[in-house]
Amino acid sequence: MALPTIELLVATTSGNTEYLADQLSDQLQQLGYPTRVHYEPDYSELIEGITDDTVWIGCIASHGAGDYADSMLDFAEHLHAKQPALAPLGYAVIAIGDSCYDTYCQAGRDFDQTLSKLGAKQLFERLEIDMSQDDPEEKASTWLGSFIQRL
Ligand SMILES: Cc1cc2nc3c(=O)[nH]c(=O)nc-3n(C[C@H](O)[C@H](O)[C@H](O)COP(=O)(O)O)c2cc1C
Repeated sequence: MALPTIELLVATTSGNTEYLADQLSDQLQQLGYPTRVHYEPDYSELIEGITDDTVWIGCIASHGAGDYADSMLDFAEHLHAKQPALAPLGYAVIAIGDSCYDTYCQAGRDFDQTLSKLGAKQLFERLEIDMSQDDPEEKASTWLGSFIQRL
């Protein structure tokens, strides 16, 4: 059976998350999974593209006071305003933030809760990366290895 294409949705302002998503994409491709990295996720394209075997990984950095980073502000605004039914989407979330903020990883947490509320299936537990403490590449790579086992 063909492996599903993994869509990586990137919320970034200053580029750290873009770099991380590229690394995850390379790792997935080495394992044989086709990938598409969405640096500025297009709401209509992604929602209309959902099929039985669609898998999203949201790589979501928080900015402002727990807001979505710039590249996904439009997408998040549409998602909250339109509340689309998301079944049969499968997804997982990597939330990126810094624990010095009270709103630590809030955008990633919101993305996770919102997709679940709209009927998508969480395929693996959310990873939270603390940029002031963690080695982001190592943490994300280990998480991805476990995520793949569950697919
Ligand atoms: C102005 C500013 C606001 C931020 N706000 C938050 C926040 O509310 N919560 C959080 O967990 N991290 C926050 N961060 C930390 C970022 O999420 C972190 O620096 C991350 O690496 C940025 O990813 P990016 O380079 O992909 O944009 C903030 C960073 C900046 C510069």
